[in-house]
Amino acid sequence: MGTERITRRTILSSAAGLAGMALPGTAFSQAAGARRVIIDTDPGVDDAFALLLAMRSPELKIEGITPVAGNVPLELSLPNALRMVEIAGRTDIPVAAGAKAPLQRRLITATYAHGENGLGGAVFPAPKIKPIADPASVFIRQVVRKYPGQVSLIMLGPQTNLATALASDPDLARMIKSVVMMGGSLSGGNVTPAAEFNIYVDPEAARMVFQSGIPITMVGLDVTRKTALTDAHVKVLEAANTPVSMAAAKIARNDIDLNRKAGNASGPNMHDSLALASFLDPSLLKWKPYYVDVETMGELTAGETLGYRPNEAGLRGSAPTLAGTKTSTMLRDKFVPNANVAIDVDSARFFNLLIGRLAGKA
Ligand code: RIB
Ligand code: CA
Repeated sequence: MGTERITRRTILSSAAGLAGMALPGTAFSQAAGARRVIIDTDPGVDDAFALLLAMRSPELKIEGITPVAGNVPLELSLPNALRMVEIAGRTDIPVAAGAKAPLQRRLITATYAHGENGLGGAVFPAPKIKPIADPASVFIRQVVRKYPGQVSLIMLGPQTNLATALASDPDLARMIKSVVMMGGSLSGGNVTPAAEFNIYVDPEAARMVFQSGIPITMVGLDVTRKTALTDAHVKVLEAANTPVSMAAAKIARNDIDLNRKAGNASGPNMHDSLALASFLDPSLLKWKPYYVDVETMGELTAGETLGYRPNEAGLRGSAPTLAGTKTSTMLRDKFVPNANVAIDVDSARFFNLLIGRLAGKA
Protein backbone atom coordinates (compact mmCIF):
# COMPACT_ATOMS: atom_id res chain seq x y z
CA MET A 1 0.00 0.00 0.00
CA GLY A 2 1.17 3.54 -0.74
CA THR A 3 3.69 5.72 1.11
CA GLU A 4 3.75 9.51 1.29
CA ARG A 5 6.12 12.26 2.39
CA ILE A 6 6.05 12.75 6.17
CA THR A 7 4.96 16.29 6.95
CA ARG A 8 3.57 17.51 10.25
CA ARG A 9 0.53 19.14 8.58
CA THR A 10 -0.29 15.96 6.58
CA ILE A 11 -0.07 13.91 9.72
CA LEU A 12 -2.08 16.19 11.99
CA SER A 13 -4.87 16.88 9.52
CA SER A 14 -5.39 13.20 8.71
CA ALA A 15 -5.31 12.11 12.36
CA ALA A 16 -7.80 14.79 13.33
CA GLY A 17 -10.10 13.64 10.54
CA LEU A 18 -10.46 10.12 11.89
CA ALA A 19 -12.53 10.91 14.95
CA GLY A 20 -13.68 14.40 14.02
CA MET A 21 -11.03 15.55 16.49
CA ALA A 22 -10.39 19.28 16.55
CA LEU A 23 -6.92 20.19 15.32
CA PRO A 24 -4.19 20.85 17.96
CA GLY A 25 -4.85 23.54 20.52
CA THR A 26 -8.23 22.33 21.79
CA ALA A 27 -8.81 20.21 24.90
CA PHE A 28 -8.88 16.40 24.66
CA SER A 29 -12.32 14.95 25.45
CA GLN A 30 -14.12 11.59 25.21
CA ALA A 31 -16.34 11.21 22.13
CA ALA A 32 -20.03 10.41 22.57
CA GLY A 33 -20.53 6.63 22.28
CA ALA A 34 -16.89 5.91 23.12
CA ARG A 35 -16.19 2.17 23.05
CA ARG A 36 -15.23 0.41 26.29
CA VAL A 37 -11.79 -1.25 26.31
CA ILE A 38 -9.32 -2.82 28.72
CA ILE A 39 -5.72 -2.64 27.53
CA ASP A 40 -3.53 -5.59 28.58
CA THR A 41 0.12 -4.75 28.06
CA ASP A 42 3.81 -5.42 28.83
CA PRO A 43 5.46 -1.98 28.36
CA GLY A 44 7.71 -2.24 26.42
CA VAL A 45 8.58 0.43 23.88
CA ASP A 46 5.80 -0.24 21.37
CA ASP A 47 3.36 -0.82 24.22
CA ALA A 48 4.21 2.63 25.55
CA PHE A 49 3.41 4.18 22.15
CA ALA A 50 0.15 2.20 22.02
CA LEU A 51 -0.85 3.33 25.53
CA LEU A 52 -0.14 6.98 24.69
CA LEU A 53 -2.10 6.63 21.43
CA ALA A 54 -5.04 5.06 23.28
CA MET A 55 -5.07 7.78 25.94
CA ARG A 56 -5.24 10.40 23.21
CA SER A 57 -8.06 8.70 21.32
CA PRO A 58 -11.53 10.06 22.16
CA GLU A 59 -13.20 7.04 20.57
CA LEU A 60 -12.08 4.90 23.52
CA LYS A 61 -13.48 4.62 27.03
CA ILE A 62 -10.45 3.00 28.68
CA GLU A 63 -11.96 1.09 31.61
CA GLY A 64 -8.51 0.00 32.77
CA ILE A 65 -4.94 -1.00 31.97
CA THR A 66 -3.66 -4.43 33.07
CA PRO A 67 0.14 -4.80 32.91
CA VAL A 68 1.65 -8.29 32.57
CA ALA A 69 5.17 -9.76 32.61
CA GLY A 70 6.53 -10.05 29.08
CA ASN A 71 9.01 -7.68 27.46
CA VAL A 72 10.25 -7.02 30.99
CA PRO A 73 9.30 -8.49 34.39
CA LEU A 74 6.09 -7.15 36.00
CA GLU A 75 8.28 -5.19 38.44
CA LEU A 76 9.09 -2.97 35.44
CA SER A 77 6.06 -3.30 33.14
CA LEU A 78 3.72 -2.18 35.97
CA PRO A 79 5.55 1.09 36.81
CA ASN A 80 6.11 1.74 33.09
CA ALA A 81 2.34 1.58 32.54
CA LEU A 82 1.78 3.90 35.52
CA ARG A 83 4.36 6.34 34.07
CA MET A 84 2.51 6.48 30.72
CA VAL A 85 -0.81 7.16 32.49
CA GLU A 86 0.79 10.07 34.40
CA ILE A 87 2.54 11.49 31.32
CA ALA A 88 -0.75 11.40 29.38
CA GLY A 89 -2.54 13.12 32.27
CA ARG A 90 -5.02 10.24 32.44
CA THR A 91 -4.84 9.23 36.10
CA ASP A 92 -8.61 8.67 35.78
CA ILE A 93 -7.73 5.26 34.32
CA PRO A 94 -7.28 2.41 36.87
CA VAL A 95 -4.21 0.18 36.54
CA ALA A 96 -4.44 -3.39 37.90
CA ALA A 97 -1.24 -5.44 38.27
CA GLY A 98 -1.25 -8.74 36.38
CA ALA A 99 0.71 -11.96 36.18
CA LYS A 100 4.40 -12.16 37.06
CA ALA A 101 4.85 -15.33 34.98
CA PRO A 102 3.17 -17.33 32.20
CA LEU A 103 0.67 -20.08 33.10
CA GLN A 104 3.04 -23.06 32.75
CA ARG A 105 6.45 -21.76 31.65
CA ARG A 106 9.43 -19.79 32.86
CA LEU A 107 9.25 -16.10 31.90
CA ILE A 108 11.31 -15.22 28.82
CA THR A 109 11.72 -11.44 28.42
CA ALA A 110 12.72 -9.23 25.47
CA THR A 111 15.07 -6.77 27.15
CA TYR A 112 17.35 -7.22 24.11
CA ALA A 113 14.76 -5.24 22.12
CA HIS A 114 13.22 -2.98 24.76
CA GLY A 115 16.20 -2.22 26.98
CA GLU A 116 16.73 -3.36 30.56
CA ASN A 117 14.05 -0.94 31.83
CA GLY A 118 11.56 -1.70 29.05
CA LEU A 119 11.55 1.86 27.64
CA GLY A 120 14.62 1.58 25.45
CA GLY A 121 16.69 2.77 28.40
CA ALA A 122 14.90 6.14 28.49
CA VAL A 123 14.71 7.24 32.12
CA PHE A 124 11.55 8.83 33.59
CA PRO A 125 10.75 9.72 37.22
CA ALA A 126 9.21 6.93 39.32
CA PRO A 127 5.39 7.06 39.07
CA LYS A 128 3.50 8.74 41.93
CA ILE A 129 0.21 6.87 41.28
CA LYS A 130 -0.34 3.30 42.50
CA PRO A 131 -2.18 0.33 41.00
CA ILE A 132 -5.61 -0.62 42.41
CA ALA A 133 -5.74 -3.43 44.99
CA ASP A 134 -7.42 -6.03 42.77
CA PRO A 135 -5.23 -8.15 40.51
CA ALA A 136 -5.70 -7.87 36.73
CA SER A 137 -7.68 -11.10 36.26
CA VAL A 138 -10.19 -10.10 38.98
CA PHE A 139 -10.41 -6.56 37.54
CA ILE A 140 -11.05 -7.89 34.01
CA ARG A 141 -13.83 -10.15 35.33
CA GLN A 142 -15.42 -7.29 37.33
CA VAL A 143 -15.46 -4.84 34.40
CA VAL A 144 -16.72 -7.40 31.85
CA ARG A 145 -19.52 -8.48 34.22
CA LYS A 146 -20.39 -4.79 34.87
CA TYR A 147 -20.73 -4.15 31.12
CA PRO A 148 -21.67 -7.50 29.52
CA GLY A 149 -21.26 -7.50 25.74
CA GLN A 150 -19.68 -4.02 25.70
CA VAL A 151 -15.99 -4.49 26.63
CA SER A 152 -13.21 -5.27 24.13
CA LEU A 153 -9.85 -6.58 25.37
CA ILE A 154 -6.87 -5.02 23.56
CA MET A 155 -4.11 -7.59 24.12
CA LEU A 156 -0.61 -6.22 23.60
CA GLY A 157 1.50 -8.76 25.49
CA PRO A 158 1.44 -12.39 26.62
CA GLN A 159 -2.20 -13.31 27.29
CA THR A 160 -1.77 -14.69 30.80
CA ASN A 161 -4.13 -12.19 32.52
CA LEU A 162 -7.06 -12.84 30.19
CA ALA A 163 -6.53 -16.62 30.26
CA THR A 164 -6.53 -16.51 34.07
CA ALA A 165 -9.77 -14.50 34.07
CA LEU A 166 -11.40 -16.94 31.63
CA ALA A 167 -10.32 -19.94 33.75
CA SER A 168 -11.80 -18.31 36.89
CA ASP A 169 -15.24 -17.71 35.34
CA PRO A 170 -16.64 -20.16 32.75
CA ASP A 171 -19.35 -17.65 31.68
CA LEU A 172 -16.93 -14.79 31.07
CA ALA A 173 -15.99 -15.53 27.43
CA ARG A 174 -19.51 -15.02 26.14
CA MET A 175 -19.74 -11.63 27.90
CA ILE A 176 -16.60 -10.22 26.19
CA LYS A 177 -17.42 -8.22 23.06
CA SER A 178 -14.14 -8.90 21.27
CA VAL A 179 -10.41 -9.45 21.59
CA VAL A 180 -7.98 -7.45 19.48
CA MET A 181 -4.49 -8.88 19.82
CA MET A 182 -1.04 -7.95 18.74
CA GLY A 183 0.08 -11.54 18.53
CA GLY A 184 1.02 -14.42 16.32
CA SER A 185 2.16 -14.66 12.74
CA LEU A 186 1.25 -16.66 9.66
CA SER A 187 4.63 -15.83 8.12
CA GLY A 188 7.20 -16.91 10.67
CA GLY A 189 8.16 -15.78 14.14
CA ASN A 190 10.47 -13.21 15.70
CA VAL A 191 11.69 -15.30 18.65
CA THR A 192 11.96 -18.66 16.87
CA PRO A 193 11.32 -19.21 13.16
CA ALA A 194 7.84 -20.36 14.26
CA ALA A 195 6.70 -18.15 17.13
CA GLU A 196 5.93 -14.46 17.68
CA PHE A 197 6.99 -13.16 21.13
CA ASN A 198 3.59 -12.64 22.82
CA ILE A 199 2.41 -16.14 21.91
CA TYR A 200 5.89 -17.66 22.48
CA VAL A 201 5.97 -16.46 26.10
CA ASP A 202 2.61 -18.03 27.01
CA PRO A 203 1.31 -20.42 24.30
CA GLU A 204 -1.12 -22.11 26.70
CA ALA A 205 -2.78 -18.78 27.51
CA ALA A 206 -3.01 -17.83 23.85
CA ARG A 207 -4.56 -21.19 22.95
CA MET A 208 -7.25 -20.69 25.63
CA VAL A 209 -8.08 -17.30 24.08
CA PHE A 210 -8.20 -18.61 20.49
CA GLN A 211 -10.43 -21.49 21.62
CA SER A 212 -12.69 -19.34 23.83
CA GLY A 213 -15.27 -18.47 21.18
CA ILE A 214 -14.67 -14.72 21.70
CA PRO A 215 -14.60 -12.80 18.35
CA ILE A 216 -10.87 -12.33 17.70
CA THR A 217 -8.94 -9.84 15.58
CA MET A 218 -5.36 -10.96 15.07
CA VAL A 219 -2.78 -8.30 14.16
CA GLY A 220 0.39 -10.32 13.73
CA LEU A 221 3.90 -9.92 12.42
CA ASP A 222 2.50 -10.34 8.90
CA VAL A 223 1.57 -6.64 9.05
CA THR A 224 3.44 -5.23 12.06
CA ARG A 225 6.76 -5.88 10.32
CA LYS A 226 5.73 -2.96 8.04
CA THR A 227 5.62 -0.38 10.85
CA ALA A 228 9.23 0.63 11.45
CA LEU A 229 9.44 3.98 13.26
CA THR A 230 11.76 6.42 11.46
CA ASP A 231 13.81 9.47 12.38
CA ALA A 232 11.33 11.62 10.41
CA HIS A 233 8.50 10.43 12.68
CA VAL A 234 10.52 11.25 15.78
CA LYS A 235 11.33 14.74 14.45
CA VAL A 236 7.58 15.46 14.12
CA LEU A 237 7.07 14.36 17.73
CA GLU A 238 9.94 16.57 18.92
CA ALA A 239 8.58 19.55 16.96
CA ALA A 240 5.20 19.16 18.70
CA ASN A 241 6.92 19.59 22.08
CA THR A 242 4.09 18.35 24.32
CA PRO A 243 4.53 16.04 27.37
CA VAL A 244 3.15 13.07 25.39
CA SER A 245 5.06 13.75 22.16
CA MET A 246 8.33 14.38 24.00
CA ALA A 247 8.00 11.21 26.11
CA ALA A 248 7.35 9.19 22.94
CA ALA A 249 10.29 10.85 21.19
CA LYS A 250 12.60 10.19 24.16
CA ILE A 251 11.64 6.49 24.24
CA ALA A 252 12.03 6.29 20.46
CA ARG A 253 15.45 7.97 20.35
CA ASN A 254 16.75 5.60 23.04
CA ASP A 255 15.31 2.50 21.41
CA ILE A 256 16.51 3.47 17.92
CA ASP A 257 20.02 3.76 19.40
CA LEU A 258 19.58 0.35 21.04
CA ASN A 259 18.44 -1.10 17.69
CA ARG A 260 21.39 0.44 15.82
CA LYS A 261 23.88 -0.92 18.37
CA ALA A 262 22.26 -4.36 17.93
CA GLY A 263 22.83 -4.05 14.18
CA ASN A 264 19.17 -3.39 13.27
CA ALA A 265 19.17 -0.76 10.56
CA SER A 266 15.44 -0.06 10.91
CA GLY A 267 12.87 -0.04 13.62
CA PRO A 268 11.60 -0.34 16.26
CA ASN A 269 8.40 -1.70 14.79
CA MET A 270 5.19 -0.23 16.22
CA HIS A 271 3.60 -3.68 16.67
CA ASP A 272 1.23 -2.77 19.51
CA SER A 273 0.25 0.65 18.18
CA LEU A 274 -0.90 -1.01 14.97
CA ALA A 275 -3.11 -3.42 16.91
CA LEU A 276 -4.63 -0.48 18.82
CA ALA A 277 -4.99 1.55 15.60
CA SER A 278 -6.78 -1.39 13.94
CA PHE A 279 -9.46 -1.04 16.62
CA LEU A 280 -9.75 2.69 15.94
CA ASP A 281 -9.85 2.27 12.15
CA PRO A 282 -10.02 -1.26 10.68
CA SER A 283 -9.74 0.23 7.17
CA LEU A 284 -6.02 0.72 7.79
CA LEU A 285 -5.61 -3.02 7.15
CA LYS A 286 -6.81 -5.80 4.86
CA TRP A 287 -8.40 -8.81 6.59
CA LYS A 288 -9.04 -12.52 5.97
CA PRO A 289 -10.90 -15.07 8.16
CA TYR A 290 -8.83 -18.02 9.41
CA TYR A 291 -9.16 -20.85 11.91
CA VAL A 292 -6.10 -20.19 14.08
CA ASP A 293 -4.72 -22.69 16.59
CA VAL A 294 -1.59 -22.50 18.75
CA GLU A 295 1.16 -25.12 19.01
CA THR A 296 1.85 -25.83 22.69
CA MET A 297 3.67 -29.20 22.57
CA GLY A 298 6.45 -28.41 20.08
CA GLU A 299 10.02 -28.70 21.34
CA LEU A 300 10.97 -26.24 18.58
CA THR A 301 7.61 -24.68 17.61
CA ALA A 302 5.71 -23.91 20.84
CA GLY A 303 3.94 -20.59 20.35
CA GLU A 304 3.45 -21.01 16.61
CA THR A 305 0.06 -19.76 15.36
CA LEU A 306 -1.21 -21.95 12.54
CA GLY A 307 -3.77 -20.40 10.22
CA TYR A 308 -6.15 -22.83 8.47
CA ARG A 309 -8.09 -21.60 5.43
CA PRO A 310 -11.36 -23.11 4.10
CA ASN A 311 -10.77 -26.46 2.39
CA GLU A 312 -12.83 -29.59 2.10
CA ALA A 313 -10.12 -31.79 3.61
CA GLY A 314 -10.93 -30.58 7.13
CA LEU A 315 -8.45 -29.35 9.69
CA ARG A 316 -5.51 -31.72 10.17
CA GLY A 317 -3.06 -32.02 13.03
CA SER A 318 0.19 -33.99 13.20
CA ALA A 319 0.43 -37.64 12.15
CA PRO A 320 -0.56 -39.97 15.02
CA THR A 321 2.38 -41.63 16.84
CA LEU A 322 2.63 -45.37 17.33
CA ALA A 323 2.75 -44.81 21.11
CA GLY A 324 -0.41 -42.71 21.12
CA THR A 325 -4.05 -43.82 20.92
CA LYS A 326 -5.07 -41.44 18.13
CA THR A 327 -5.48 -42.95 14.66
CA SER A 328 -6.77 -39.94 12.68
CA THR A 329 -5.05 -36.65 11.79
CA MET A 330 -8.39 -34.82 11.86
CA LEU A 331 -8.79 -31.98 14.39
CA ARG A 332 -12.12 -30.73 13.01
CA ASP A 333 -14.16 -32.08 10.12
CA LYS A 334 -15.18 -28.64 8.82
CA PHE A 335 -13.69 -25.16 8.58
CA VAL A 336 -15.14 -22.65 11.07
CA PRO A 337 -13.08 -19.43 11.31
CA ASN A 338 -12.25 -18.16 14.81
CA ALA A 339 -10.22 -15.07 13.92
CA ASN A 340 -10.09 -12.18 11.49
CA VAL A 341 -6.41 -11.94 10.54
CA ALA A 342 -4.72 -8.81 9.17
CA ILE A 343 -2.89 -9.61 5.92
CA ASP A 344 -1.83 -6.13 4.72
CA VAL A 345 -1.55 -2.57 6.05
CA ASP A 346 -1.44 1.00 4.69
CA SER A 347 1.66 1.96 6.68
CA ALA A 348 1.54 5.65 5.67
CA ARG A 349 -2.04 6.07 6.87
CA PHE A 350 -1.20 4.19 10.07
CA PHE A 351 1.71 6.51 10.87
CA ASN A 352 -0.40 9.58 10.05
CA LEU A 353 -2.81 8.42 12.74
CA LEU A 354 -0.16 7.38 15.28
CA ILE A 355 2.17 10.35 14.98
CA GLY A 356 -0.68 12.78 14.40
CA ARG A 357 -2.41 11.76 17.63
CA LEU A 358 0.81 11.70 19.67
CA ALA A 359 1.83 15.09 18.28
CA GLY A 360 -1.62 16.60 18.81
CA LYS A 361 -1.95 19.36 21.39
CA ALA A 362 -3.76 18.41 24.61
O1 RIB B 1 6.30 -9.57 18.85
C1 RIB B 1 5.99 -8.24 19.17
C2 RIB B 1 5.27 -8.17 20.48
O2 RIB B 1 6.10 -8.66 21.51
C3 RIB B 1 4.91 -6.73 20.88
O3 RIB B 1 3.76 -6.74 21.67
C4 RIB B 1 6.09 -6.32 21.71
O4 RIB B 1 5.77 -5.32 22.67
C5 RIB B 1 6.41 -7.60 22.43
O5 RIB B 1 5.55 -7.70 23.55
CA1 CA C 1 3.80 -5.71 23.90
